[in-house]
Amino acid sequence: MPLRLVLLGAPGSGKGTLTTRLLKQIPHLTSISTGDLLRAEIQNSTPIGRLADAYIKEGKLLPDELMAGMVETELAKRKIIDKSFLLDGFPRTTSQALELERRLQDNSINLVVELDVPPDVIVGRIANRWMHSSGRVYNLEYNPPKVPFKDDVTGEPLFQRPDDNPETVRKRLKTYYEQLEPIKRFYQSRGVYDKVGGETSDIIFPQLYRLARSRLD
Ligand code: AP5
Ligand code: MG
Repeated sequence: MPLRLVLLGAPGSGKGTLTTRLLKQIPHLTSISTGDLLRAEIQNSTPIGRLADAYIKEGKLLPDELMAGMVETELAKRKIIDKSFLLDGFPRTTSQALELERRLQDNSINLVVELDVPPDVIVGRIANRWMHSSGRVYNLEYNPPKVPFKDDVTGEPLFQRPDDNPETVRKRLKTYYEQLEPIKRFYQSRGVYDKVGGETSDIIFPQLYRLARSRLD
């Protein structure tokens, strides 16, 4: 059975990091990160990119319709709507979840995993995060690049995200915790919700992998 997985987690909870690990174990899985899609639009200075830049800097969510359309386009472009896929960072509101359900029709989401990481752990992680334009994520303590401040694959310089300053991180966390309960209830009502917890991805990953495998078998 195809796995149609949503990773739900606060900023810095490890969605991107765990996605990379899961893709290594399940090679036919394809991931879509809405944050990465938006950062690519910003880099290419598209109209959506200009809009996204303003929202992201403020730590605000972009409009639901726009995000749902973007994910639908991406699923179609990669021809994976009826295959196994992982969504990192979408849906984030019940309205996005409803839009997604409508667009997926018979291929509805069959696993939603909440990453439950204590907020004080998160704040420290984000301060140490460096990334590459491909979306590859590093942490100066947890998974440092082989050469300091250079991407392992391309050797290009790493940068810190403009929305990773303490004030914006606080706003992003607040928004996340406001949206969490309703979206959790939505997916509980669909019978697909699960939760994994722990302070490190080494504790979280095996739990996530087990859940993902159970849907594939
Ligand atoms: P997005 O890019 O998705 O940001 P986010 O949800 O805030 O999540 P992050 O990417 O910050 O964290 P992550 O969970 O991926 O953690 P990571 O693996 O990097 O979205 C950005 C913005 O775009 C949003 O704020 C919004 O404006 C907009 N947007 C996106 N989607 C949207 C939507 N659906 N609707 C509306 N607007 C939308 O890990 C964090 C750090 O911790 C890294 O440095 C990593 O190396 C490190 N780390 C990971 N695991 C461990 C560990 N076990 N121990 C120590 N360090 C660790
Ligand atoms: Mg991420």
